[in-house]
Amino acid sequence: MTSLKTPICKRLGIEVPIFGFSHSVAVTAALTNAGGFGVFGAAREAPEEVAESLAQVRELVGDKPFGVDIMLPKGMPSKSLDELQADLPEDHVAFVDGLKRKYKVPPAENQGFFNSQVRSPEFFQGQLDAVLEADVNMLAFGVGFTADAVKRANAKNMITAALIGQPKHVQAAMDAGVEVIVAQGGEAGGHTGEISTLTLVPQSVEMSGGRPVLAAGGIGHGSQIAASLAMGAEGVWLGTKWLTTIEHQLEQGKIDKLLESGSADTVVTRASSGKPQRQIKSHWSQEWSAPNAPAPLKMPYQHALVGDLIISVEENDITPLLTEPAGQSVAWCREVSSVADVVNELVAETQVALKRLSDLTG
Ligand SMILES: Cc1cc2nc3c(=O)[nH]c(=O)nc-3n(C[C@H](O)[C@H](O)[C@H](O)COP(=O)(O)O)c2cc1C
Repeated sequence: MTSLKTPICKRLGIEVPIFGFSHSVAVTAALTNAGGFGVFGAAREAPEEVAESLAQVRELVGDKPFGVDIMLPKGMPSKSLDELQADLPEDHVAFVDGLKRKYKVPPAENQGFFNSQVRSPEFFQGQLDAVLEADVNMLAFGVGFTADAVKRANAKNMITAALIGQPKHVQAAMDAGVEVIVAQGGEAGGHTGEISTLTLVPQSVEMSGGRPVLAAGGIGHGSQIAASLAMGAEGVWLGTKWLTTIEHQLEQGKIDKLLESGSADTVVTRASSGKPQRQIKSHWSQEWSAPNAPAPLKMPYQHALVGDLIISVEENDITPLLTEPAGQSVAWCREVSSVADVVNELVAETQVALKRLSDLTG
C-alpha cells in the first residue's frame, strides 16, 4: 500500500488517515490491521458486552491502535424499559400496532438492544466504566461528552474524539478537553445534523486551534479524502462504506438494499431512535411521515415504542420495513468486498486526486 501519512497518523502510529466507525468487531479489527484506525461502536451494547467486544478487537489487532465510540446524550430519564413503556401515549401505541398488523409482523422472539436495553444515565455510566477498564487507545463520543469523561479517559492514556455537527460544538468539545474533532456533516449515516461536510469541515479546522479535525459524512471515494485533506482535515471518518464489507456480515436483505441505493435513497427521520437519523428510505420512514402518522417521540421513548417491532422486522426479514442507518455515501457501496480492499481502493483514488491537484499547480 502506498503511504498517505498526515500528522495524526504519526501520532497514533497508523499508516493511512482513514478512520472507520463500525458496530462490528471484525470490521474494527480489519480496518486497524489494514493500516487505518478502527473504532468500535459500543452504543448498542450492554455494559457487560462492551468489555467482551473490546477484548475481542484487542485480540485481533495485537498492539495496533483502535478506538471505541459511545453516546452520552443529556436529558435521558432514569427509567427502566417497563416504566418508559407504561408512559407511552395511546395514539402512538395504536399506530405501531397498526403497522404490525399491516405488515404481518409477529412479536419478536429474541432479545436485542432495541427491545431489552434502554438509554438512561445509568446505562451510559455503565458503558463508560466498562470502556475505561478496557485496553483501547481512543474514546470517541458520538452524541454528548463531559469534561469528566475526557479526564478519566486521558488518565487511562486514551486519546479522545468527539463527533460534532455544528461549528459551535467545536468550542464546546475543546472546552471539555477533547483532542480530536470529528466534523460530521449532514450527509452522514446515523444520527446527524443539517450542515454539509463541505461547509462544516473548513469551519471546524479554523476553530480547532490546531487540534486534528477528521472529516465525516458522505465520504465514499478517495477524491473526497483528497478534498478533506485540502480543507485542512488530517483524516477522514467513514461509517456507511463498511456496511457492505465481507467482514461485516450484515443481513442479506440489508446488503441488497444498500447495494441498490444511491445518494437520493436516504432520508433523515426520528422514527427509529427519537433523534434525527439518516437511514435508507423504506416503508418504515414513509409510514412515519404519512399524514396520519403521529410525530415520533423523543429519545428514549421512541426506542421503547418501536424496539420490539425493529427486532422482529429483522428476525422475520419483513423487507418493506427493513432499513439501516446509511449516509449519502451509500452510492459507493457498489459491491461486497473486504475492508483491506476498500482501504486500498480509497488510498489509490486519493493519490489520483492529489496528483490531479498537484498537476494544476506544478
Ligand atoms: C450503521 C451506522 C450506525 C452509526 N452509529 C453511530 C453511533 O452509534 N455513534 C456514532 O458516533 N456514530 C454513529 N454513526 C455515524 C458514524 O460514526 C460516521 O460519523 C458516519 O457514518 C459518517 O458518514 P458516512 O455514513 O457517510 O460514512 C453510525 C453510522 C452508521 C452508518
